Amino acid sequence: MSRDARPLGVFDSGVGGLTVVRELRRQLPDESIIYLGDTARVPYGNKSAETVVRFAREDARFLVERGVKAIVIACNTASAHALGALREEFPVPVFGVIEPGVQAALRESVGGRIGIIGTAGTIASGAYQEALRRERPDALIMAEPTPLLVPLVEEAWLDHAATRLILDEYLAPFLTAGIDTLVLACTHYPLLREAIGAAAGPAVRLVDSASACAAQLAMAFGGGELVSGLPPGRVELFLTDLPRGFSSVAGRFLGGGVGNPKLVTLE
Ligand code: DGL
Repeated sequence: MSRDARPLGVFDSGVGGLTVVRELRRQLPDESIIYLGDTARVPYGNKSAETVVRFAREDARFLVERGVKAIVIACNTASAHALGALREEFPVPVFGVIEPGVQAALRESVGGRIGIIGTAGTIASGAYQEALRRERPDALIMAEPTPLLVPLVEEAWLDHAATRLILDEYLAPFLTAGIDTLVLACTHYPLLREAIGAAAGPAVRLVDSASACAAQLAMAFGGGELVSGLPPGRVELFLTDLPRGFSSVAGRFLGGGVGNPKLVTLE
């Protein structure tokens, strides 16, 4: 069987979705990726569902016009609000981060006491909570927005006293409730994995939806031989704005050099 050489299309509200690209490159090193970061309109996390769906539709259209074989919504907020709409409207398979994150949480959680942290939009949508409840109705599910974490990660305050303080404050109710698993339901949180792990303690397992999502893609696209097309493993980066300090922030998310992004305008 030969593999479809068209690239995977990944989009996010900004550069945080490069955590998903990093995992995709690890788990599917042969795949070429086109990444769109909507840096002109980030953040999505505090915007209304209607606005996020409109933005996500434009992001997806941009990728489909570039001939991708599938769309990956790396952004948790966009996955929460727009997955259903994009699946209906676009002619290629659309993957989000929520379902894989939920499946990973169900595998990890021994006692069915599951916490979720994410942006205000992701938590308010109820998408993670509903999916977990559908699969495991007896689970204790606790979800809280943790909006200060995105700016802390962008400032690279990954191991900073202020970050530890804020994490202690955010995680206290989860620990009081005795959760055994915590879902890191935001593109940025994998970079805080160590700090979150230290604040949550050894009894809490951490699940990140970036690696869970990449594992699902690896199942879907991992078989067969790659034929031709773009050179293997190439990542092409498109942004709607070039923010100051982009390279160093993006490099942290991707775990390496990012190359030159191309600027685009979406319609
Ligand atoms: N990418 C967003 C998410 O995963 C975080 C940043 C934002 O609010 O746009 O929810």
